[in-house]
Amino acid sequence: MSSLLVTGGAGFIGSNFVRHVLATTDHNVTVLDAITYAGNAASLDGLPEDRFRLVVGSVCDADLVNDLVADHDVTVHFAAESHNDNSLNDPSPFIQTNLVGTYELLQAVRRHDKRYHHISTDEVYSDLELDDPAKFTENTPYNPSSPYSSTKAGSDLLVRAWVRSFGVQATISNCSNNYGPYQHVEKFIPRQITGLIDGVRPKLYGAGENVRDWIHVDDHNSAVLRIIDDGVIGETYLIGADGEMNNKSVIELILELMDQPTDAYDHVNDRPGHDMRYAIDATRLRTELGWTPTYRDFRSGLAATIDWYRANEDWWRPMKAATEAKYAKTGQ
Ligand code: NAD
Ligand code: DAU
Repeated sequence: MSSLLVTGGAGFIGSNFVRHVLATTDHNVTVLDAITYAGNAASLDGLPEDRFRLVVGSVCDADLVNDLVADHDVTVHFAAESHNDNSLNDPSPFIQTNLVGTYELLQAVRRHDKRYHHISTDEVYSDLELDDPAKFTENTPYNPSSPYSSTKAGSDLLVRAWVRSFGVQATISNCSNNYGPYQHVEKFIPRQITGLIDGVRPKLYGAGENVRDWIHVDDHNSAVLRIIDDGVIGETYLIGADGEMNNKSVIELILELMDQPTDAYDHVNDRPGHDMRYAIDATRLRTELGWTPTYRDFRSGLAATIDWYRANEDWWRPMKAATEAKYAKTGQ
């Protein structure tokens, strides 16, 4: 049995990770989360009190981070400012949390010689052309486009430097777009589902040709656990489940699954610098660590996600109006 410190565990992927760990292992879990606008303690309701606790605080708080890292076997770092559109409107919290927060964690794991796993994104590699047969691999050069992705790229490079210079026991994973329960309504899929529940037409940025490589959040998290258990220190693993689809097709599928005409959506202002396509080659994870995804059918995973938002209005309703008010300022 191990003790895990999970930063950002009240967010979308982190809260699903905590549930996954508690359900499939005998590890104890402490979540460190600042409960920003994106964090929600309700996402952690009902977890066993003898194996789980929530500490509200920031990964930028050096003393708090030091003490918590010292008390746990493994630190898994999910906490981040995670939304591209927000980073275009105000990059400052992205610099603090994504760069300074990662620095504080690295210093603490270095000091206490602890195992560290760093959660990152495929966006560090920039984007691909629509007709490019290539996918991202662990050897693709870094070339991030947005304030969000550049701070995530910077945090990955800090981890690599701390491994090489100080012998920190770290692994990194870079995953593609996640979908599933407990995702904030600012993100593409839950925004459209909850909008339709309210009778609002989906909003597609620009022409909607942009491709994302969708993976269910549970598959992301099973891969993270596998890397923590069996990953080689100092290595990077790409996580993806061959789920490429353009945004227009995703909106049409949501409309179909919610019994609406598939052309009942609006085009809105495009995102500045909008990355065209992400695609993950997860060969290394599959061949070296023997990982395979469980959710192979996006349509049924999406239908289950729609059901979850229908059944959990109490969870998302409090954040919906403020999120849409923010979007209204940019015509999105
Ligand atoms: P999220 O925005 O839903 O959750 C982020 C969590 O971090 C929130 O609970 C928030 O309160 C917390 N947080 C923010 N600043 C903090 C701070 N200073 N100290 C402590 N906690 C803080 O994000 P998510 O979508 O769950 O993403 C989690 C991680 O996974 C991020 O590192 C992100 O870059 C990465 N990632 C996300 C995706 C995706 O599709 N969502 C894909 C690949 C990688
Ligand atoms: O690729 C991994 C990344 O995926 C993660 O690192 C990020 O944390 C996560 O937010 C996500 O980034 P994206 O920018 O791809 O996700 P988002 O949900 O914001 O948008 C997905 C696509 O949908 C993108 O091409 C923009 C488009 N979009 C988004 C919204 C909110 C729309 O067309 N309409 C919308 O209303």
